[in-house]
Amino acid sequence: MGNKVNTIGVLTSGGDAPGMNAAIRAVVRTALANGLKVKGIRRGYNGLLEEDIIDMDNRSVSDIIQRGGTILYTARCLEFIKPEGQDRGAEICRKHNIDGLVVIGGDGSFKGAQALARRGINTVGLPGTIDLDIACTDYTIGFDTAVNTSMETIDKVRDTSTSHERCSIIEVMGRNAGYIALWCGIGNGAEEVLITERYDYNEQRIIENIIEKRKIGKKHFIIINAEGVGDSYAMAKRIESATGMETRATIIGHAARGGSPTAIDRLYASAMGAKAVDLLCEGASNRIVAYKEGKFVDYDIEEALSMTKDIDQYLYDLSKRLSR
Ligand code: ADP
Ligand code: F6P
Repeated sequence: MGNKVNTIGVLTSGGDAPGMNAAIRAVVRTALANGLKVKGIRRGYNGLLEEDIIDMDNRSVSDIIQRGGTILYTARCLEFIKPEGQDRGAEICRKHNIDGLVVIGGDGSFKGAQALARRGINTVGLPGTIDLDIACTDYTIGFDTAVNTSMETIDKVRDTSTSHERCSIIEVMGRNAGYIALWCGIGNGAEEVLITERYDYNEQRIIENIIEKRKIGKKHFIIINAEGVGDSYAMAKRIESATGMETRATIIGHAARGGSPTAIDRLYASAMGAKAVDLLCEGASNRIVAYKEGKFVDYDIEEALSMTKDIDQYLYDLSKRLSR
């Protein structure tokens, strides 16, 4: 347990995610209601090192719960990975009387929070990433919105793909994590889902599958690629020439990372933001708020970072069983 806090800082770090604003709002308003001061640190650890720090009140977070992105901006900061940067970060927190810090981001951002906790700044992390790839939690801020945006876009591509009796390769975000691709694979009824965690790069099998499915009356063929599996445009060309089926590639990209958060992202991010402040008020430090088995819980950062998780095999198999 760390010491009790008087002033809470809040920052967003790594890739932005819809719902981060809801979390910031909850942090600010819960802290103020508890009689604490709140400072917003802009552009993640970059802003901390540049002392881009602003006072926040209840009005600073008006009209943001429905907005995607993050009003505090976000950035990646290489200097903060080095011990000297972390020493300076802790000094700057002390200079601005920030004795508790809420860090909204992914595993990289949590390592920064851990470094500050070791230097005497009480820290709590909130899982903010559209990728769902944080091991200690079943939910990450932004995933629900990103997967719904991706699913709706794929529905639209499917309409035109069916009309033209084409094959469509649709690439969704997730360089190292296939959760968005897998959920869309099932939710959009795709014929193939290619994710880095499982794909064996056997394109010949996919080609044979397309030829086989056409023989049994399939009018279109949807392949959902997670971003990390490779160049979808090049794959479309190869598949078209091998199967004779017209093929188009669509990359949804960052469009899935923006937009108004869903109800789940607004509500869970709000609950997590409030819990982060409650933990700091209890004197906790070096914790991550998580959602596990239907409850909001918290873990030591070291323990959380040592956890691993994998794609749900049942869901992966289901995506195959239902694509007939
Ligand atoms: P995410 O938080 O989404 O995993 P990154 O891995 O890009 O995103 O990390 C975000 C930021 O967190 C980095 O730019 C850096 O400032 C900080 N960070 C990452 N790794 C470390 C580390 N090992 N020690 C301290 N800070 C780190
Ligand atoms: O936020 C996670 C993520 O969107 C990944 O899915 C993606 O690979 C990466 O960030 C893209 O990062 P950038 O915004 O730097 O292109």
